[in-house]
Amino acid sequence: MALTNNTAALILAAGQGKRMRSALPKILHPCCDVPLIAHVVNLALTQQCSPIVVVLSPGSNDIQDYLSKRFAQAPLRFAIQEKPLGTGDAAKAGLKALDHSTLKVLLLYGDVPLLTPQSIDALTDAVAQVAFLTAHVNDPTGYGRVIEKQNRFKIVEDKDCSEDERRVQQVNAGVYLCDLAVLQNAVARLENNNAQNEFYLTDIVALADTATPVAVDFNEVRGVNNQEDLVTVEQIMRQRLVRKHLLNGVRFTSPDTIFVGADVVFGNDVVLGVGVQVYGKTKIADGARIEGPCIIRDSQIGQNARVYGFSHLENAIVGSDCHVGPFARLRPGAKLEEQVRVGNFVEIKNATLGLGSKANHLAYIGDAEVGEQCNIGAGTITCNYDGKNKHRTILRNHVFVGSNSTLVAPVTLEEGSYIAAGSTISHDVPKDALAFGRARQSVREGYAAKLKNK
Ligand code: UD1
Ligand code: MG
Repeated sequence: MALTNNTAALILAAGQGKRMRSALPKILHPCCDVPLIAHVVNLALTQQCSPIVVVLSPGSNDIQDYLSKRFAQAPLRFAIQEKPLGTGDAAKAGLKALDHSTLKVLLLYGDVPLLTPQSIDALTDAVAQVAFLTAHVNDPTGYGRVIEKQNRFKIVEDKDCSEDERRVQQVNAGVYLCDLAVLQNAVARLENNNAQNEFYLTDIVALADTATPVAVDFNEVRGVNNQEDLVTVEQIMRQRLVRKHLLNGVRFTSPDTIFVGADVVFGNDVVLGVGVQVYGKTKIADGARIEGPCIIRDSQIGQNARVYGFSHLENAIVGSDCHVGPFARLRPGAKLEEQVRVGNFVEIKNATLGLGSKANHLAYIGDAEVGEQCNIGAGTITCNYDGKNKHRTILRNHVFVGSNSTLVAPVTLEEGSYIAAGSTISHDVPKDALAFGRARQSVREGYAAKLKNK
């Protein structure tokens, strides 16, 4: 059953997450390349929750900016929990952001990122004032235990458990679906006389007239409290992602060695070789083939393009039928139009290469516009930086740059011009002209033999 359309989501995400031992707030730690909190907001979005209230600690402007940007279209609101007095207090802060249009509240924890819509569906099927997700686990250490007594339920936190309770293997996930009025009432009655002197949201289970546990697979409800948990959770998420793409027809020649970020999009008949890492908002179009190992971030790879091993691409656009690498580096702003060839030890930054142009070996092309069908010889360097400012190099169509040339920007090589190998070019070259920029060779007949006999 789906959630009613007046269900709000409250995502508890205040607090540093001390057990992570990191300067980065826990919920911003990436899991498959996307912050933990974003996975949870995504889930609330798939459930059509509105509004989605994220409870944060004071001074969390970075998190708010990130979420507002990433989920620009979402009915997102932020609530601030002034002091980390516990999950119950966080819920109280979040409730202030809701109005009377809300009937039900889906409570989620920002550090529980593996939940799927299927588990939320199971929760909505339960009829109770409070329905909550639970799971059976071999080692329940750290989790709240679900304790049943004469058909009434309560949750006892790890630190508050008696010996008997500690052995209970049914744990609380931290996901609850409640009537708004019941939640408001229960939260107002929370107390903090427990081992941690915190207001536990979990106490709402015992406070409600009716509460129903809904058991799901433990993998769904794993929380991240430390770096070890994060590794475990990330592995599970990674396997899920790989499986999803495999079933959609992506060919991973070695699924265990590839790493795909949660936002990456693949076309049909894409092949990823051993050790490929693809991150960010990368899109790989139909028929593209990425040989491993490679790192690709926030880039677009066109149809039938080939990226060969040991290449590194960031914020780059690779047109269809291009060949890149091996050992190529495309830095931000690199744009290859169709059928471009970029070979080994070529670095391209903030530069466009037009249709069919080639830079096959050992070149640096920065802040440049290269037209169509140009050839850039081995060892060509655009000298784009004078120590203070960056300048542009422009190559019109059909320009040939001989090997080991330095193009001192700002400079323009007009259409069809030809640069002799070993030139330093610091003045514009006219259309169809040949430019030399090197010392003239001098030859002394017989002089080498004379030297040898000295
Ligand atoms: C919580 C549950 C526990 C459950 C486990 C599941 C409570 C008291 N315990 O324990 O029963 O088994 O999750 O993962 O709820 N937060 C705030 N403000 C606070 C404290 C926490 O917003 O003052 C947020 C955190 O950012 C986090 C979430 O609430 O995203 C859970 O807090 P955490 O401290 O990780 O609780 P657990 O000890 O994991
Ligand atoms: Mg936790």
